[in-house]
Amino acid sequence: YGQRFAKVFELYTAAQRLYQHILLNTTAGEEALKYLEEKRGLDQATIQKYGIGYVPEDNAFLHYVEEQNIDSKLRDESNLFLTNDSGQTRDRFARRVVWPIANAQGQVVGFSGRTLDPDNQIKYMNSPESSFFNKSQLLYHFDQAKSSIRTTKTAMILEGFMDVISANLAGEEIGVATMGTALTAYHVRQLARIAQKILLLYDGDEAGQKAAKRSIALINEEAPKVEIGIVVLPDDLDPDEMRLQRGLPALQKAMEQGVLTPTEFLVQAARTGRNLSNQAQYLDFLKEILPILKKAGPIEQETQLNRLTEEFGTSKEALKAQLAEVVLPKN
Ligand code: GTP
Ligand code: MN
Ligand code: MN
Ligand code: MN
Ligand code: MN
Repeated sequence: YGQRFAKVFELYTAAQRLYQHILLNTTAGEEALKYLEEKRGLDQATIQKYGIGYVPEDNAFLHYVEEQNIDSKLRDESNLFLTNDSGQTRDRFARRVVWPIANAQGQVVGFSGRTLDPDNQIKYMNSPESSFFNKSQLLYHFDQAKSSIRTTKTAMILEGFMDVISANLAGEEIGVATMGTALTAYHVRQLARIAQKILLLYDGDEAGQKAAKRSIALINEEAPKVEIGIVVLPDDLDPDEMRLQRGLPALQKAMEQGVLTPTEFLVQAARTGRNLSNQAQYLDFLKEILPILKKAGPIEQETQLNRLTEEFGTSKEALKAQLAEVVLPKN
Protein backbone atom coordinates (compact mmCIF):
# COMPACT_ATOMS: atom_id res chain seq x y z
CA TYR A 1 0.00 0.00 0.00
CA GLY A 2 3.04 2.19 0.52
CA GLN A 3 2.70 4.20 -2.68
CA ARG A 4 -1.01 4.75 -2.86
CA PHE A 5 -1.41 5.71 0.76
CA ALA A 6 1.88 7.49 1.31
CA LYS A 7 0.04 10.79 1.77
CA VAL A 8 -2.34 9.30 4.33
CA PHE A 9 0.57 7.85 6.26
CA GLU A 10 2.29 11.25 6.21
CA LEU A 11 -0.84 12.75 7.70
CA TYR A 12 -0.85 10.12 10.44
CA THR A 13 2.73 10.90 11.28
CA ALA A 14 1.88 14.61 11.48
CA ALA A 15 -1.11 13.79 13.71
CA GLN A 16 1.02 11.58 15.94
CA ARG A 17 3.61 14.36 16.38
CA LEU A 18 0.96 16.93 17.23
CA TYR A 19 -0.87 14.62 19.65
CA GLN A 20 2.37 13.82 21.43
CA HIS A 21 3.35 17.47 21.61
CA ILE A 22 -0.05 18.29 23.12
CA LEU A 23 0.34 15.53 25.69
CA LEU A 24 3.85 16.44 26.77
CA ASN A 25 3.98 20.20 26.43
CA THR A 26 0.56 21.82 26.72
CA THR A 27 -2.05 22.44 29.40
CA ALA A 28 -4.62 20.59 27.25
CA GLY A 29 -2.53 17.46 27.80
CA GLU A 30 -1.95 17.88 31.53
CA GLU A 31 -4.72 15.61 32.77
CA ALA A 32 -3.79 12.84 30.33
CA LEU A 33 -0.08 13.11 31.18
CA LYS A 34 -0.89 12.89 34.85
CA TYR A 35 -3.02 9.82 34.16
CA LEU A 36 -0.24 8.10 32.19
CA GLU A 37 2.44 8.93 34.74
CA GLU A 38 0.55 8.39 37.96
CA LYS A 39 -2.13 5.85 37.15
CA ARG A 40 -0.33 3.88 34.44
CA GLY A 41 3.24 4.23 35.71
CA LEU A 42 4.81 5.40 32.46
CA ASP A 43 7.73 7.82 32.39
CA GLN A 44 8.25 10.37 29.63
CA ALA A 45 10.90 8.27 27.89
CA THR A 46 8.44 5.40 27.57
CA ILE A 47 5.65 7.71 26.44
CA GLN A 48 7.98 9.00 23.73
CA LYS A 49 9.24 5.60 22.72
CA TYR A 50 5.71 4.37 22.09
CA GLY A 51 4.60 7.64 20.50
CA ILE A 52 1.68 8.04 22.88
CA GLY A 53 -0.29 11.27 22.58
CA TYR A 54 -3.44 13.06 23.62
CA VAL A 55 -6.21 14.39 21.38
CA PRO A 56 -7.75 17.51 22.93
CA GLU A 57 -11.36 18.52 22.36
CA ASP A 58 -10.47 21.72 20.52
CA ASN A 59 -9.97 19.98 17.15
CA ALA A 60 -6.31 20.89 17.07
CA PHE A 61 -5.48 18.50 14.26
CA LEU A 62 -8.47 19.55 12.16
CA HIS A 63 -7.21 23.13 12.39
CA TYR A 64 -3.75 21.99 11.34
CA VAL A 65 -5.20 20.20 8.31
CA GLU A 66 -7.16 23.32 7.36
CA GLU A 67 -4.12 25.56 7.76
CA GLN A 68 -2.05 23.24 5.59
CA ASN A 69 -4.75 23.23 2.90
CA ILE A 70 -4.82 19.47 2.86
CA ASP A 71 -7.36 18.36 0.28
CA SER A 72 -10.67 17.07 1.53
CA LYS A 73 -10.40 13.71 -0.21
CA LEU A 74 -7.20 12.95 1.66
CA ARG A 75 -8.77 14.28 4.84
CA ASP A 76 -11.70 11.86 4.47
CA GLU A 77 -9.52 8.96 3.45
CA SER A 78 -7.46 9.41 6.62
CA ASN A 79 -10.40 8.48 8.88
CA LEU A 80 -8.97 10.86 11.47
CA PHE A 81 -12.15 12.93 11.58
CA LEU A 82 -15.83 12.40 12.18
CA THR A 83 -18.58 14.42 10.53
CA ASN A 84 -21.98 14.51 12.20
CA ASP A 85 -25.42 14.80 10.60
CA SER A 86 -25.35 18.58 10.66
CA GLY A 87 -22.06 18.55 8.76
CA GLN A 88 -19.79 19.43 11.66
CA THR A 89 -16.39 17.80 11.53
CA ARG A 90 -14.22 17.03 14.54
CA ASP A 91 -11.17 15.00 15.52
CA ARG A 92 -12.30 11.36 15.77
CA PHE A 93 -10.24 10.62 18.87
CA ALA A 94 -11.10 13.79 20.79
CA ARG A 95 -10.53 13.44 24.54
CA ARG A 96 -8.65 10.20 24.22
CA VAL A 97 -5.11 9.09 24.90
CA VAL A 98 -3.87 7.69 21.60
CA TRP A 99 -1.37 5.02 20.66
CA PRO A 100 -0.12 5.13 17.09
CA ILE A 101 -0.49 1.79 15.32
CA ALA A 102 2.20 1.01 12.79
CA ASN A 103 2.24 -1.70 10.14
CA ALA A 104 5.08 -4.20 9.85
CA GLN A 105 7.11 -1.66 7.86
CA GLY A 106 6.80 0.92 10.64
CA GLN A 107 4.38 3.26 8.85
CA VAL A 108 1.73 4.72 11.17
CA VAL A 109 -1.55 3.44 9.70
CA GLY A 110 -4.00 4.32 12.44
CA PHE A 111 -4.58 4.94 16.11
CA SER A 112 -6.17 3.36 19.11
CA GLY A 113 -7.56 5.75 21.67
CA ARG A 114 -8.43 5.19 25.31
CA THR A 115 -10.95 7.30 27.16
CA LEU A 116 -10.00 8.84 30.50
CA ASP A 117 -13.64 8.77 31.55
CA PRO A 118 -14.39 5.67 33.65
CA ASP A 119 -18.09 5.98 32.75
CA ASN A 120 -17.46 5.83 29.01
CA GLN A 121 -18.64 2.41 27.79
CA ILE A 122 -16.27 2.59 24.84
CA LYS A 123 -12.97 2.21 26.64
CA TYR A 124 -10.86 1.82 23.53
CA MET A 125 -11.65 3.01 20.04
CA ASN A 126 -9.64 2.05 16.97
CA SER A 127 -9.29 3.62 13.56
CA PRO A 128 -11.96 2.11 11.33
CA GLU A 129 -11.15 -0.93 9.28
CA SER A 130 -9.72 -0.05 5.86
CA SER A 131 -7.42 -1.52 3.24
CA PHE A 132 -4.41 -0.35 5.26
CA PHE A 133 -5.85 -0.66 8.76
CA ASN A 134 -6.71 -4.31 8.81
CA LYS A 135 -7.04 -5.70 12.30
CA SER A 136 -6.71 -9.28 11.16
CA GLN A 137 -3.22 -8.44 9.88
CA LEU A 138 -1.91 -5.80 12.25
CA LEU A 139 0.09 -6.66 15.33
CA TYR A 140 0.76 -3.77 17.67
CA HIS A 141 4.50 -3.00 18.01
CA PHE A 142 5.57 -5.76 15.59
CA ASP A 143 7.61 -3.28 13.56
CA GLN A 144 9.80 -2.48 16.55
CA ALA A 145 9.80 -5.90 18.17
CA LYS A 146 10.76 -7.85 15.07
CA SER A 147 14.51 -7.44 15.45
CA SER A 148 14.47 -8.79 19.02
CA ILE A 149 12.08 -11.53 17.93
CA ARG A 150 14.58 -12.50 15.24
CA THR A 151 17.53 -12.53 17.62
CA THR A 152 15.79 -14.44 20.38
CA LYS A 153 13.69 -16.46 17.93
CA THR A 154 10.89 -15.86 20.40
CA ALA A 155 7.75 -13.75 20.17
CA MET A 156 5.25 -12.91 22.88
CA ILE A 157 1.58 -12.23 22.24
CA LEU A 158 -0.47 -10.11 24.65
CA GLU A 159 -4.00 -8.70 24.75
CA GLY A 160 -3.48 -4.96 25.02
CA PHE A 161 -1.14 -2.10 24.24
CA MET A 162 -0.40 -1.40 27.88
CA ASP A 163 0.40 -5.08 28.34
CA VAL A 164 2.91 -4.96 25.50
CA ILE A 165 4.58 -1.94 27.05
CA SER A 166 4.67 -3.61 30.47
CA ALA A 167 6.09 -6.87 29.13
CA ASN A 168 8.70 -4.99 27.13
CA LEU A 169 9.67 -2.98 30.22
CA ALA A 170 10.10 -6.29 32.05
CA GLY A 171 12.36 -7.97 29.54
CA GLU A 172 13.29 -8.37 25.92
CA GLU A 173 11.30 -6.31 23.48
CA ILE A 174 9.47 -9.24 21.93
CA GLY A 175 5.88 -8.34 22.84
CA VAL A 176 3.12 -7.68 20.32
CA ALA A 177 -0.66 -7.47 20.66
CA THR A 178 -3.69 -8.02 18.51
CA MET A 179 -6.01 -5.05 18.12
CA GLY A 180 -8.54 -6.18 20.71
CA THR A 181 -9.53 -9.03 18.39
CA ALA A 182 -8.66 -12.71 18.20
CA LEU A 183 -5.36 -13.96 16.83
CA THR A 184 -5.58 -14.89 13.14
CA ALA A 185 -3.78 -17.33 10.84
CA TYR A 186 -2.15 -14.30 9.20
CA HIS A 187 -0.71 -13.13 12.53
CA VAL A 188 0.61 -16.60 13.32
CA ARG A 189 2.30 -17.00 9.97
CA GLN A 190 3.86 -13.57 10.24
CA LEU A 191 5.37 -14.41 13.63
CA ALA A 192 6.33 -17.96 12.65
CA ARG A 193 8.47 -16.63 9.82
CA ILE A 194 10.91 -15.19 12.36
CA ALA A 195 10.19 -17.00 15.63
CA GLN A 196 10.60 -20.63 16.66
CA LYS A 197 8.82 -20.05 19.91
CA ILE A 198 5.66 -18.10 20.72
CA LEU A 199 4.80 -17.16 24.28
CA LEU A 200 1.21 -16.31 25.16
CA LEU A 201 0.80 -13.80 27.97
CA TYR A 202 -2.89 -13.13 28.21
CA ASP A 203 -4.93 -11.62 31.02
CA GLY A 204 -5.23 -13.93 34.01
CA ASP A 205 -9.04 -13.91 33.80
CA GLU A 206 -11.39 -16.40 32.17
CA ALA A 207 -11.47 -14.48 28.90
CA GLY A 208 -7.68 -14.65 28.78
CA GLN A 209 -7.73 -18.38 29.42
CA LYS A 210 -10.24 -18.90 26.61
CA ALA A 211 -8.19 -16.76 24.25
CA ALA A 212 -5.08 -18.79 25.12
CA LYS A 213 -6.86 -22.06 24.33
CA ARG A 214 -7.97 -20.71 20.96
CA SER A 215 -4.52 -19.38 20.15
CA ILE A 216 -2.82 -22.67 21.04
CA ALA A 217 -5.10 -24.54 18.63
CA LEU A 218 -4.53 -21.97 15.91
CA ILE A 219 -0.74 -21.95 16.28
CA ASN A 220 -0.66 -25.77 16.26
CA GLU A 221 -2.66 -25.69 13.06
CA GLU A 222 -0.85 -22.89 11.22
CA ALA A 223 2.68 -23.36 12.48
CA PRO A 224 2.99 -26.85 13.96
CA LYS A 225 6.77 -26.56 14.34
CA VAL A 226 6.54 -23.51 16.57
CA GLU A 227 7.03 -24.23 20.23
CA ILE A 228 4.36 -22.66 22.45
CA GLY A 229 4.69 -21.43 26.02
CA ILE A 230 1.92 -19.99 28.15
CA VAL A 231 2.36 -17.61 31.06
CA VAL A 232 -0.60 -17.60 33.43
CA LEU A 233 -0.89 -14.61 35.73
CA PRO A 234 -2.45 -14.88 39.18
CA ASP A 235 -5.64 -13.33 40.52
CA ASP A 236 -7.19 -12.27 37.19
CA LEU A 237 -4.41 -9.73 36.70
CA ASP A 238 -3.28 -8.60 33.29
CA PRO A 239 0.45 -7.98 32.68
CA ASP A 240 0.05 -4.25 33.12
CA GLU A 241 -1.82 -4.61 36.41
CA MET A 242 0.80 -7.12 37.52
CA ARG A 243 3.54 -4.53 36.93
CA LEU A 244 1.60 -1.76 38.69
CA GLN A 245 0.33 -3.79 41.64
CA ARG A 246 3.14 -6.29 42.22
CA GLY A 247 6.06 -4.53 40.59
CA LEU A 248 8.19 -5.06 37.52
CA PRO A 249 10.31 -7.85 39.13
CA ALA A 250 7.14 -9.87 39.82
CA LEU A 251 6.11 -9.61 36.18
CA GLN A 252 9.66 -10.44 35.14
CA LYS A 253 9.65 -13.52 37.33
CA ALA A 254 6.31 -14.71 35.96
CA MET A 255 7.59 -14.27 32.40
CA GLU A 256 10.81 -16.14 33.08
CA GLN A 257 9.78 -18.85 35.49
CA GLY A 258 6.04 -19.22 35.01
CA VAL A 259 6.03 -20.57 31.47
CA LEU A 260 3.80 -23.62 31.04
CA THR A 261 3.80 -26.07 28.15
CA PRO A 262 0.51 -26.28 26.25
CA THR A 263 -0.19 -29.65 27.89
CA GLU A 264 0.39 -28.28 31.38
CA PHE A 265 -1.71 -25.23 30.64
CA LEU A 266 -4.62 -27.16 29.11
CA VAL A 267 -4.68 -29.63 31.99
CA GLN A 268 -4.62 -26.75 34.47
CA ALA A 269 -7.34 -24.94 32.54
CA ALA A 270 -9.52 -28.05 32.59
CA ARG A 271 -9.57 -27.83 36.37
CA THR A 272 -11.15 -24.39 36.33
CA GLY A 273 -14.71 -24.43 37.55
CA ARG A 274 -14.65 -28.13 38.48
CA ASN A 275 -14.78 -29.71 41.89
CA LEU A 276 -12.50 -32.67 41.32
CA SER A 277 -13.41 -34.44 44.55
CA ASN A 278 -16.79 -35.01 42.95
CA GLN A 279 -16.64 -38.28 40.96
CA ALA A 280 -18.80 -37.09 38.05
CA GLN A 281 -16.80 -33.90 37.67
CA TYR A 282 -13.52 -35.79 37.97
CA LEU A 283 -14.59 -38.12 35.14
CA ASP A 284 -15.60 -35.12 33.11
CA PHE A 285 -12.21 -33.58 33.75
CA LEU A 286 -10.51 -36.79 32.58
CA LYS A 287 -12.64 -36.80 29.46
CA GLU A 288 -11.34 -33.34 28.64
CA ILE A 289 -7.68 -33.98 29.39
CA LEU A 290 -7.11 -37.51 28.06
CA PRO A 291 -7.22 -36.38 24.41
CA ILE A 292 -4.73 -33.68 25.35
CA LEU A 293 -2.42 -36.26 26.97
CA LYS A 294 -2.82 -38.57 24.01
CA LYS A 295 -1.34 -35.86 21.79
CA ALA A 296 1.47 -35.04 24.22
CA GLY A 297 4.93 -36.57 23.96
CA PRO A 298 5.74 -39.63 26.11
CA ILE A 299 7.61 -37.67 28.76
CA GLU A 300 4.88 -35.12 29.34
CA GLN A 301 2.33 -37.89 29.29
CA GLU A 302 4.25 -39.75 31.97
CA THR A 303 4.59 -36.63 34.13
CA GLN A 304 0.90 -35.83 33.90
CA LEU A 305 -0.20 -39.40 34.63
CA ASN A 306 2.06 -39.49 37.68
CA ARG A 307 0.48 -36.28 38.92
CA LEU A 308 -3.02 -37.67 38.50
CA THR A 309 -2.04 -40.83 40.35
CA GLU A 310 -0.53 -38.86 43.21
CA GLU A 311 -3.34 -36.37 43.54
CA PHE A 312 -6.40 -38.51 42.95
CA GLY A 313 -5.16 -42.03 43.68
CA THR A 314 -6.26 -43.34 40.29
CA SER A 315 -3.82 -46.08 39.26
CA LYS A 316 -1.62 -45.51 36.26
CA GLU A 317 -2.87 -48.76 34.74
CA ALA A 318 -6.43 -47.51 34.84
CA LEU A 319 -5.44 -44.14 33.36
CA LYS A 320 -3.42 -45.83 30.61
CA ALA A 321 -6.29 -48.17 29.80
CA GLN A 322 -8.59 -45.18 29.47
CA LEU A 323 -6.01 -43.33 27.41
CA ALA A 324 -5.74 -46.26 25.00
CA GLU A 325 -9.43 -45.94 24.24
CA VAL A 326 -9.24 -42.28 23.27
CA VAL A 327 -9.71 -41.81 19.55
CA LEU A 328 -8.38 -38.51 18.25
CA PRO A 329 -10.37 -36.85 15.50
CA LYS A 330 -8.55 -37.01 12.16
CA ASN A 331 -7.66 -33.72 10.53
P1 GTP B 1 -6.83 -0.92 30.42
O1 GTP B 1 -7.82 -0.49 31.45
O2 GTP B 1 -6.41 0.23 29.55
O3 GTP B 1 -5.67 -1.62 31.00
O4 GTP B 1 -7.58 -1.91 29.44
P2 GTP B 1 -7.97 -3.42 29.82
O5 GTP B 1 -6.83 -4.15 30.39
O6 GTP B 1 -9.24 -3.44 30.57
O7 GTP B 1 -8.25 -3.94 28.38
P3 GTP B 1 -8.90 -5.35 28.12
O8 GTP B 1 -8.13 -6.42 28.79
O9 GTP B 1 -10.36 -5.24 28.40
O10 GTP B 1 -8.72 -5.42 26.56
C1 GTP B 1 -7.47 -5.63 25.93
C2 GTP B 1 -7.48 -4.95 24.58
O11 GTP B 1 -8.77 -5.10 23.99
C3 GTP B 1 -7.25 -3.44 24.61
O12 GTP B 1 -5.88 -3.11 24.55
C4 GTP B 1 -7.98 -2.99 23.39
O13 GTP B 1 -7.19 -3.19 22.23
C5 GTP B 1 -9.15 -3.91 23.33
N1 GTP B 1 -10.33 -3.32 23.93
C6 GTP B 1 -10.65 -3.21 25.24
N2 GTP B 1 -11.79 -2.55 25.43
C7 GTP B 1 -12.23 -2.24 24.19
C8 GTP B 1 -13.38 -1.53 23.70
O14 GTP B 1 -14.22 -1.06 24.45
N3 GTP B 1 -13.49 -1.42 22.34
C9 GTP B 1 -12.57 -1.93 21.47
N4 GTP B 1 -12.75 -1.77 20.15
N5 GTP B 1 -11.47 -2.59 21.90
C10 GTP B 1 -11.29 -2.74 23.24
MN1 MN C 1 -11.39 -4.54 30.30
MN1 MN D 1 -9.36 -8.53 29.47
MN1 MN E 1 -6.58 -6.37 30.29
MN1 MN F 1 -5.22 -3.54 31.57
